[in-house]
Amino acid sequence: MQVKAGEVMFEIFSQTDNKIIYAAPDRTILEAMLKAKINHTHVCGGNARCSTCRVYIMDGLSNCQPRNEKEKQLADKLGFPQNIRLACQTKISGNISIRRPVVDELDIEIILKQFDGAPGTKLGQEKDLAILFTDIENYTEFAEALPAYDVVHVLNRYYQTMNEIIIQHKGVISDVAGDGILALFGAIGDSKNPVLDAINAVRAMNAALTQFNGYLNQMYDWSFGIRAGINFGKVIVGNFDTGMMSKISAIGDAVNLASRIETANKDFGTQLLISQSAYEEVQGLVETHKMYRATLKGKSGEYALYEVEI
Ligand code: FES
Repeated sequence: MQVKAGEVMFEIFSQTDNKIIYAAPDRTILEAMLKAKINHTHVCGGNARCSTCRVYIMDGLSNCQPRNEKEKQLADKLGFPQNIRLACQTKISGNISIRRPVVDELDIEIILKQFDGAPGTKLGQEKDLAILFTDIENYTEFAEALPAYDVVHVLNRYYQTMNEIIIQHKGVISDVAGDGILALFGAIGDSKNPVLDAINAVRAMNAALTQFNGYLNQMYDWSFGIRAGINFGKVIVGNFDTGMMSKISAIGDAVNLASRIETANKDFGTQLLISQSAYEEVQGLVETHKMYRATLKGKSGEYALYEVEI
């Protein structure tokens, strides 16, 4: 960009675009970015209604003018910390560095998504389900190294990606906690072999991580791996309503066992372990590597766990 002599301009360093953009004091960050031909997302057209233009101010927050009334209203509603600003409303009086978290359609969808209730099943049905637990290798280090805002954004993106895959494989996410996902197969829909669906879901999740890691690498110089455990057994499954949200949950020892199996991956250096009961459902249908005999935390005796190729 050409800056004319005598013109007052401040620098915006966009880490996302690895570019310096110049902004006049009477222009918003969004106006400066668009003028510099940067495809800065602004779904509501710069009217402080969508928040998709949000930027993370990495440096120079004191050079951002205070929030105007429109920005304040949206920021309060969404609980933004001070350093998340709407580019369409913010003008600057000095140099700043920013990062744009909303870079593609998936990011927009995450931000704009209205959460609908999942298709349900009646409370109190006893069913044989495949119970899948997953977690992210390297997550703890990632969460410690980055600001909480980025961690939450990345996790939302991860959940969104994995949720679609789980649904495609006839499963449903029952719960998420930190980097962990609990998904149920056979709870809804017409799965003929819930364990096989769960294994195929893990394989697809692992494949999707390759693409996801491209994004993580570019944005944060990081990559994730996935670990998963599957059990098959009888549980009580139903729609549990907490008053604030309704979700499909499963109760029973089979759920606890699936969680322990997932954790056992750390001991054996594996990615996907399944229980004896799960193995019997897919014997001859999937390739297994090694069988481990494991003692599991909170359980007595030894359990046979099978490592499945993903
Ligand atoms: S463009 Fe919608 S809030 Fe800024």
